Amino acid sequence: MSVDPRTGPAPSPTGPLSKIDYSERIPNNVNLADDRRLQRALEAWQPKFLDWWKTLGPALPTKDVYLRTAIAVGRDGWAHFDHVPMEEYRWGIFLAEANPDRVVNFGKHKGKPAWQEIPGEHRADLMRLIVVQGDTEPASVEQQRILGNTAPSIYDLRNLFQVNVEEGRHLWAMVYLLQAYFGREGREEAEQLLKRNSGDLDAPRILGAFNEETTDWLQFFMFTYFTDRDGKYQLGTLKESAFDPLARTCEFMLKEEAHHMFVGTTGVQRTVERTAQVMKEIEEKGGTPDSATVLQHGAIPLDVIQKYLNFQFSVSMDLFGSEQSTNAGNYYSSGLKGRWQETRRKDDHVLLDDTRTMNYVEDGEIRQKEVPMLSALNLDLRDEYAADCANGVRRWNQELEDAGLEERLALPHEGFNRKVGVYANHHLSPEGEVLDDATWEQRVGDWLPSPEDRQAVASLMVPEYEYGKFAGWIAPPKTGINDQPVEFDYVHLAEEGVA
Ligand SMILES: [Fe+2]
Ligand SMILES: [Fe+2]
Repeated sequence: MSVDPRTGPAPSPTGPLSKIDYSERIPNNVNLADDRRLQRALEAWQPKFLDWWKTLGPALPTKDVYLRTAIAVGRDGWAHFDHVPMEEYRWGIFLAEANPDRVVNFGKHKGKPAWQEIPGEHRADLMRLIVVQGDTEPASVEQQRILGNTAPSIYDLRNLFQVNVEEGRHLWAMVYLLQAYFGREGREEAEQLLKRNSGDLDAPRILGAFNEETTDWLQFFMFTYFTDRDGKYQLGTLKESAFDPLARTCEFMLKEEAHHMFVGTTGVQRTVERTAQVMKEIEEKGGTPDSATVLQHGAIPLDVIQKYLNFQFSVSMDLFGSEQSTNAGNYYSSGLKGRWQETRRKDDHVLLDDTRTMNYVEDGEIRQKEVPMLSALNLDLRDEYAADCANGVRRWNQELEDAGLEERLALPHEGFNRKVGVYANHHLSPEGEVLDDATWEQRVGDWLPSPEDRQAVASLMVPEYEYGKFAGWIAPPKTGINDQPVEFDYVHLAEEGVA
């Protein structure tokens, strides 16, 4: 294997490892060179992907960016960091290590060997699952296209671009599966993944949350916290799939995904930290740290942060689909999609006799009913997700507590602002109270960001491109990326891009 001069050699591994061949036009660890047909199909798609990246990828002109590139997929030493022009990023196809003894862990094929090819009867369902997952990846890049123009620091700018190139790679991961296993139809779907665009009236992205605009950095951090986390949970179910290439693809994607959620968690945390500081300063000078005063002092008011949180949590909850779903049950029984942490669950992994309770709304109140477990697997996943979301909120509240403030952030009720599932035709307050239409209309401005709130946040979004400096609304991070200092030159802007 030759060593790419840009990425250098891989660190010595201690776990099982397969190296990625960077001498190929498309870096990969799937022996692409042995499959001429597939290689040609992917090489035909590559220039279209690059065109898409240039037109709808990051808008801010840069020379190069300190980026992480995958160089191996083993347990350790999998990534290398260096300054790279973004359009020369080595997007490629990396699957987690194969386990030749892997079996199906759930459903009616439980105990049988995992599939290396797709059984004919599951072809359509699997293709749909892959297309829907694949569609979210480039969508977020499109949503975040212009954020670079208002980056609060070079450190944050680098993190944005890292997330963007990796979402681009996740698109590659799904396109590989489509082209390798779904023939002509798969190649057509791969083309469509570049033709649908976020927010496009004629050809929008498939899922609602991926057509919302990412207007500012607070929303970007909420997005990476709440919506990338939805991605983590979806990938977690596909990683259990009986279809082994899908399972291995998703397992490696999860590895990259962890950084995206780090960006979200710490981004909101640093925003809250700065707001808490400003509130404290106002108090110490004898003032009242209300919304308008905090804003005047250049920080984002806590109630606005709460509204952004309410919005992004509720639209991300919608991504899990209806609580009860025959499709989800069938996907499970057929082995296409497992549960979060399937193998750690202490049950029979078939679920034919299991039930659970679920909430629904009737006569203006939330009631509970017992439903077959197999029918409620979307809800099972959503519950796992919501519990995970609460961890970050606790962390953010720690900043408020450390600053000696009484105020706290909270996740809204699962039924707040929902467009999908049992709550879709009801109005619930963030506390879970069922409301009539008039009360909802009256109060919604207190709970979701209004155009004025977004305007106020936008007014604080001034770019800070000096190394080691940060915009006034956000605290610096405690440490830099990959042991580099916070003031490191993470991004070299193109001349015309420098403010
Ligand atoms: Fe992704
Ligand atoms: Fe992500």
